[in-house]
Amino acid sequence: MTQYITVAADDRVEARNGTIKLHGPEGFEGMRRAGRLAAEVLDALVPHVVPGVSTQALDDIARSHMLDAGAVPATLGYRGYTKSCCISINHVVCHGIPSDKTLKDGDIVNIDVTPILDGWHGDTSRMYLVGDVPLKARKLVDITYECLMLGIDQAKPGNRLGDIGHAIQRHAEGQRYSVVRDFCGHGLGRLFHDSPEVIHAGRPGTGPELRPGMFFTIEPMINIGRPDVKVLDDGWTAVTRDRSLSAQFEHSIGIAEDGCEIFTKSPAGLDHPPY
Ligand code: MF3
Ligand code: CO
Ligand code: CO
Repeated sequence: MTQYITVAADDRVEARNGTIKLHGPEGFEGMRRAGRLAAEVLDALVPHVVPGVSTQALDDIARSHMLDAGAVPATLGYRGYTKSCCISINHVVCHGIPSDKTLKDGDIVNIDVTPILDGWHGDTSRMYLVGDVPLKARKLVDITYECLMLGIDQAKPGNRLGDIGHAIQRHAEGQRYSVVRDFCGHGLGRLFHDSPEVIHAGRPGTGPELRPGMFFTIEPMINIGRPDVKVLDDGWTAVTRDRSLSAQFEHSIGIAEDGCEIFTKSPAGLDHPPY
């Protein structure tokens, strides 16, 4: 049985133990601010994602933006990770490490940021198109964004996590794409990665019930080819085993009485490309 616990904003941050936290109005307020900042960081990166820029330069911009806003990048020092965001190019599924590698014309790139503001985590990622991107890759990006939003449409009280996973899986597989199973969305709030695990595939009416006050991410990774992933020797970079292109979008959301609130919507309306 899934256990739920109602938490107050100033409760001790408890480690993930399978119990799903239900947050109150102060939690929503904290997540609104952290989520908005996360989205603003992704907005600010738009003009910089061009051929020739290094992923380290983009990481520097993301870090400065967060620090200037009084936030700290959650990834900095997280389990030994030393960068302020993840930048995943083409067949990299997630957790690409910023480096002196440069972007080139035709790349599709995911940038994933998580500022911690006043103790709350805003976690979001978007795809960016570098220069002239082939139609096949642009279509993957479009469908992946639709998968995220179809999942979010199912995020309301009375539904279950399986309804979200099913909506995503159905749309991706309807295009003969595949859904990555090795990485999931996650509860978040005062913790970066909390219960529940949000699987991006599933059967309707299964899994934990969605209740008002739940905070979690939805972050489907969709591949043109097979779903299988491997992690490179750096311990982080996850790539498709068949080297097919992969795309991802992520929002942080909160379940409300009558639906859900997206904490990480772009204030500038730049939620998906073309920007
Ligand atoms: N932001 C990623 C997520 O969506 C987690 C990145 S952890 C890192 O959950 F250490 F790789 F940065
Ligand atoms: Co996440
Ligand atoms: Co993320």
